[in-house]
Amino acid sequence: MTQTKTLSSFALDIRKGLTHDPKYISSKYFYDAMGSKIFRQIMALPEYYLTRSEYEILENHLSEILAAFQEHQDTFSLIEMGPGDGSKTKILIEHFMKQKVWFDYIPIDISQAELKGLTNDLKIAHPQLKVAPSHGDFFEILHQLNLHSHKTKIILFMGSTIGNFTHTESLAFLKHIRKNLSTGDKLFIGFDLKKEPKIIRKAYNDSQGITRNFNLNLLHRINRELDGHFNIDSFSHEPSYNPLTGEAKSYLVSHKAQSVKIGAFNTTIHFKKWEAIYTELSQKFDEEMILELAEKSGFSVDINFYDSHTYFTNSLWRAI
Ligand code: AVI
Repeated sequence: MTQTKTLSSFALDIRKGLTHDPKYISSKYFYDAMGSKIFRQIMALPEYYLTRSEYEILENHLSEILAAFQEHQDTFSLIEMGPGDGSKTKILIEHFMKQKVWFDYIPIDISQAELKGLTNDLKIAHPQLKVAPSHGDFFEILHQLNLHSHKTKIILFMGSTIGNFTHTESLAFLKHIRKNLSTGDKLFIGFDLKKEPKIIRKAYNDSQGITRNFNLNLLHRINRELDGHFNIDSFSHEPSYNPLTGEAKSYLVSHKAQSVKIGAFNTTIHFKKWEAIYTELSQKFDEEMILELAEKSGFSVDINFYDSHTYFTNSLWRAI
């Protein structure tokens, strides 16, 4: 029978990834409603040091961050890509408002609901702050802002999302940002650093099995949305960390030879015993890697802010 229904990009990507050798599923598909809920649980885990480290950096370096953002200019636009609930940014905003800094805040997100919630919160907490939420494609919005605004732009890209991109993807992404900035504009970006491998392994293999559920939710999602027939119990979550390359990678491994039908694209996927699906890269960086990324994408590194354990850095780059 020919397939007449148009497949969603999720279906197309899953079909491509599961028929590829080796099999893979893009980590961007972690974040359906259930996956986003599990990710919030991950961020609160004792083993998941990333989020806590970044909060610590912001809280302990507020004055230095502000001084580095301002740099003798009396105004700037703070532009954030995918702010979520904005809980980290609110720490910066609170301080900037107390210091009577003149700036505007432009959160950009594809989720209108998140943007609305954040804007309402900020209106209540800081009625004087100019918030201009923008809904849509980040690069297009940045391009328009670059054409029409003469204020210095400071782009916030916090979390360690850059670590979920391959080196090639990171470079392309950063070059794209640079193309839509003017000389002197800045990028404030979060990087998880190389550290004792045991600490990294635990962060991706927590004792409560929450990260395991986060990965297995991919199979549940395929079952729910694509009429998949995965028997979840016959797959296990296998995280790994390579201290040579700084790559933390996650896999789902099939315990047995099995065939899984996926109704949405009418295909049966065959698994050999112990065959793996690659689900995520969480790259860890050192200073040289950060410098190289900055230089190759048209930036210089102004300053790296660290937490007290040197687990994480928020790096401030300047467009050159
Ligand atoms: C969103 N991203 C930075 C997280 C990370 O650490 O790579 C996603 C995550 N995966 C497993 N735990 C958390």
